[in-house]
Amino acid sequence: MQSDYISSFSFDARLAPYDIAGSIAHVQMLAAQKIISASDAKKIISGLNAIEDDLEKGKKLPAAEDIHFAIEQELVKRIGEVGKKMHTARSRNDQVALDLKLFTRTAGKLLVQKITQAQTAILNCAQKNPQVLMPGFTHLQHGQPIFFAHHILAYGWMLQRDKERFEDLLKRLNENPLGACAFAGTAFPIDRAQTSKLLNFKKPTENSVDSVSDRDFIAEFIFACALTMTHLSRLAEEMVIWTSSEFGYVTLPDHLTSGSSIMPQKRNPDTAELVRGKSARTLGNLIQILTILKNLPLSYNRDMQEDKPPLFDSADTTLASLEIAEEIFAGLKVNAKAMEAQCKKGFLLATELADYLARKGVAFRAAHTIVGKIVSDLRSTHGPENLEDLPLSKLKSYSPLFEKDIYPFLSPRNNASAKNSYGGTGAKALAIQIKNLKKLLK
Ligand code: ARG
Repeated sequence: MQSDYISSFSFDARLAPYDIAGSIAHVQMLAAQKIISASDAKKIISGLNAIEDDLEKGKKLPAAEDIHFAIEQELVKRIGEVGKKMHTARSRNDQVALDLKLFTRTAGKLLVQKITQAQTAILNCAQKNPQVLMPGFTHLQHGQPIFFAHHILAYGWMLQRDKERFEDLLKRLNENPLGACAFAGTAFPIDRAQTSKLLNFKKPTENSVDSVSDRDFIAEFIFACALTMTHLSRLAEEMVIWTSSEFGYVTLPDHLTSGSSIMPQKRNPDTAELVRGKSARTLGNLIQILTILKNLPLSYNRDMQEDKPPLFDSADTTLASLEIAEEIFAGLKVNAKAMEAQCKKGFLLATELADYLARKGVAFRAAHTIVGKIVSDLRSTHGPENLEDLPLSKLKSYSPLFEKDIYPFLSPRNNASAKNSYGGTGAKALAIQIKNLKKLLK
């Protein structure tokens, strides 16, 4: 066996600040309950604080089986035998559960903040470009014209749900597992309410077996990261498509692109590609954590040590990718001309022709068939894709109900502007949407 096979130190060392905070609260409680003396507690706490100071200065602890042993061994090295009292009425099982909750809480709050920053960048970009029109897509085929601002705000709402998912899981992890000990509790007269208060938890967990077995909060966190990354990956994919020569809708800020070692003209959208690529590992992490947990008998099992790499990786990857998303929107150059030129292609206003007939009393399905025929004839004769260019006589040959007043409706801009149903792309609806999102970001 390799000597470090069972060790988690190479990846759990970053739990040190949480481990120390948990130990300090534990020792304060032990002293208050007279389980250890006040003077012993003082020595232990000042030893722990000194270790923390050194870690903050960049000093490394000697390797051990895990971060919990590493800190305890360092403490005993520094303050002597009294350091060995720290672990009274505690196990590494409740200790590690606590550390993980503290880490997840901190990471979750940071993610909430980063999401808000990315949303703010989206909102600013939308407000800077209120008039830019673009083709809206389904199946990556031209659908109907919409405002660019409306399209990108869709990401603002996806991120809003992501943020609420993190906030929601933070509510559920707000119970303190410390004091569950190995899994059965302890006969020492500990005060779990006190450590809960000291560590900012709402209350102690209710069942000591569950307390050391539960990693739901990690699975939920990793899921919330995976879904956030799925959203960012869709955004990244659009950036890759939109920056291509074929589209040319947007230009990414220089610092988010990179060149090629051989092709001098290249400005590749590498950061967007990497958001898309890195999203894969967050999905992998989700499978990993659920697979680790699914066959575990109660209570603690060493398999659970493997919960850390996917947790940390999901947190780090999502955090860094949110920063990229924020930078994308902060520096995005929007090529309104290229988008608007595309609005003249792909029969973007075909639905409007059908709506026009429907407003004149034709059943919508029948109107749909008439316009379908117009479009298929134009396709086979290579006629104009911009329906504004069709003469009235031509339209009338398909339905006598078409009149001159159809033409204002056949402008992509008028068309999009008129879609003011709640949540629609029209300017009035868009203003309400922006107001509502802004309110949430305050
Ligand atoms: N390093 C371990 C983990 O991460 C700490 C808990 C060890 N507990 C035990 N009973 N071996 O899960």
